[in-house]
Amino acid sequence: MDDDERVLRRRVGDTEARRANRGWWDADADDYQAEHGAFLGEVDFRWCPEGLRESEARLLGDVAGRRVLEVGCGAASCARWLATQGASPVAFDLSAGMLRHAARAAGTTGVRVPLVQADALALPFAEASFDIACTAFGAIPFVDDSAALMAEVHRVLRPGGRWVFSVTHPMRWVFLDDPGEGGLTAVHSYFDRSPYVEQDERGVASYVEQHRTLGDRIRELIDAGFRLLDLVEPEWPAGHRETWGQWSPLRGRLFPGTAIFVTEKPAGSYPAGAAHRSGRAGTASESG
Ligand SMILES: C[S@@+](CC[C@H](N)C(=O)[O-])C[C@H]1O[C@@H](n2cnc3c(N)ncnc32)[C@H](O)[C@@H]1O
Repeated sequence: MDDDERVLRRRVGDTEARRANRGWWDADADDYQAEHGAFLGEVDFRWCPEGLRESEARLLGDVAGRRVLEVGCGAASCARWLATQGASPVAFDLSAGMLRHAARAAGTTGVRVPLVQADALALPFAEASFDIACTAFGAIPFVDDSAALMAEVHRVLRPGGRWVFSVTHPMRWVFLDDPGEGGLTAVHSYFDRSPYVEQDERGVASYVEQHRTLGDRIRELIDAGFRLLDLVEPEWPAGHRETWGQWSPLRGRLFPGTAIFVTEKPAGSYPAGAAHRSGRAGTASESG
């Protein structure tokens, strides 16, 4: 198999994507923490490579006393920070390798939060069991059926609860993953939703990353029953020199690298799908 057959764009369903990403994040967990652990901190909540912290952005609202679910938590530094702010967080991830770092950091910091190994498409939590759900780059870019993920988060949030997540800004899809000059020229169609896939010599995916346009993301949220409160596009701060993969001062000066969706499940809203079952439509617009 040629190199160009190892890296390609093709449709990947969630069974193959789950297997690929669990294996990839398990294998990459040590390198990821070695490369990014110092930037992320052990008890800190950064939304993105631009460095924006929840302590300054306050996108989650008041967290004290709130039950918070961290989705795709990796080493769970955000959940530990939330615990120090008086929240009751639960952190979950698909990858045992990433959760091993979360358990280690609990030991070194003494800040312990419940850790769960789970798939964001099948949350092992009851309806309305959290006040807030959040993630910095966890889970969402790695699943095919991201509309189902939004519906799962909607199910476990109480009415009036917040769901805030950061992802790579969809406009970055058109560029190569290159922090330098090579990453300034558009080469892919923004409208091509075929995922980026790395696969082995048998054609089995070993890494899968999905793309949705801004409109796709907003539609998924509204269909799940969320209301969009804000879409934050953090600017690259002056003096911030740290490159993270394709995120760099050069590109950050010119266009956004991260999109943070701030949403809420309207108070008094129906569980996703209930409107259709009862013959009503438009839960997002009728309550609040
Ligand atoms: C880029 S890392 C982000 C981790 C952490 N939030 C951070 O800021 O460092 C993506 C995380 O999503 C997790 N993940 C991927 N697919 C997932 C899924 N279907 N369900 C839950 N977690 C998933 C990976 O295991 C990985 O820990």
